[in-house]
Amino acid sequence: MKDRFLKACRREPVDCTPIWLMRQAGRYMEAYRRLRERYTMAQLVKTPELAVEITLQPVRAFDLDAAIIYSDLLPPLEAMGLEVEFVEGEGPVIRQPLRSRADVEALRESDPRESLNFVLQAICLARQALDGRLPLIGFAGAPFTLATYAIEGSNARNPVHAKALMYQEPQTWHLLMERFAHFIARYLEAQVEAGAQAVQLFDSWVGALSPADYARYVAPYSRYVLQAAQATGVPVIHFSTGTGGMLEHIAAVGGDVIAVDWRTPLDVAWQRIGYQRAIQGNLDPAVLLAPLEELRRQAVQILEQAGNRPGHIFNLGHGVLPQTPIEAVAHLVEVVHRESQR
Ligand code: CP3
Repeated sequence: MKDRFLKACRREPVDCTPIWLMRQAGRYMEAYRRLRERYTMAQLVKTPELAVEITLQPVRAFDLDAAIIYSDLLPPLEAMGLEVEFVEGEGPVIRQPLRSRADVEALRESDPRESLNFVLQAICLARQALDGRLPLIGFAGAPFTLATYAIEGSNARNPVHAKALMYQEPQTWHLLMERFAHFIARYLEAQVEAGAQAVQLFDSWVGALSPADYARYVAPYSRYVLQAAQATGVPVIHFSTGTGGMLEHIAAVGGDVIAVDWRTPLDVAWQRIGYQRAIQGNLDPAVLLAPLEELRRQAVQILEQAGNRPGHIFNLGHGVLPQTPIEAVAHLVEVVHRESQR
């Protein structure tokens, strides 16, 4: 097995720096777009054979060091009783978002082993298909990012309804976070049981909060999820964006690997997180749209900042953009492996 990724998660020495990319499966690939002409995103996510096929597309096309199961952040919301509708060209929309105590109390108690069985089955089948050649990553959205989507109802740059609920009805907020934290912890445990060899917790939107509000309204719930995931024994990656003002808090909440975005240089981020943790990142996804020479320069700069210290996993600071040329992805993977040989 190509085990650089798992070794780097544990900060063990590797022959060269491992690389995988958030959203490595998706619309920038022709093979994915062809499937999307025939199926909706919901169909792809809920049909294990198709989800496995999509999981494998990028690892067949590029020399990546890990596969990530094809799914989305929102199936847990559906499992808990919210109606999520995928609007073409807009993304998922929740027509009746959570806004009150009664809405939160009406959320369904659900066992992810049943309600999200399609994801677990996909993980199981993907492990068989990968046949030990590459490790498989599972994932879930963090309580804050899920709660924000459930409250706003769609992609919101500034989650003002979520913040209003947090301040105006703190007890409702805490109840909601508790329900999400419990569900997501069980979901990640089930993914590991199904075969996930590492898991990533996506807190994509938590950078909208001040450090003090993060500590008070979010940290206990993320900590609960991360501890449950870490107790399974597989490496746990804690991802967030826009959190350059509070990396120390993010790291203190947990995770074996802290994933950082490009707004903080990797060397500065690692120093602040502490060298007893592994780090993942942190190329700006837009750099994949640059000429290949500029892409190489920026990738090498990140490798230099990591300085061959054990425990760096190369990745983007957020997901691959749909307009990314495949040549750029192929070039990046090659440059990272070649320029980081020990
Ligand atoms: O690395 C991975 O592949 C992880 C899986 C993942 C996806 N989206 C797959 C996806 C993750 C972690 C996300 C993040 C996500 N998705 C968030 C958090 C914010 C962020 O961007 O990190 C949220 C709120 C969602 C819900 C969602 N899903 C939106 C808003 C959209 C539409 C916008 C978009 O970029 O397409 C999606 C669609 C989506 N999620 C696709 C994929 C591969 C594209 C599906 C398609 O159109 O075929």
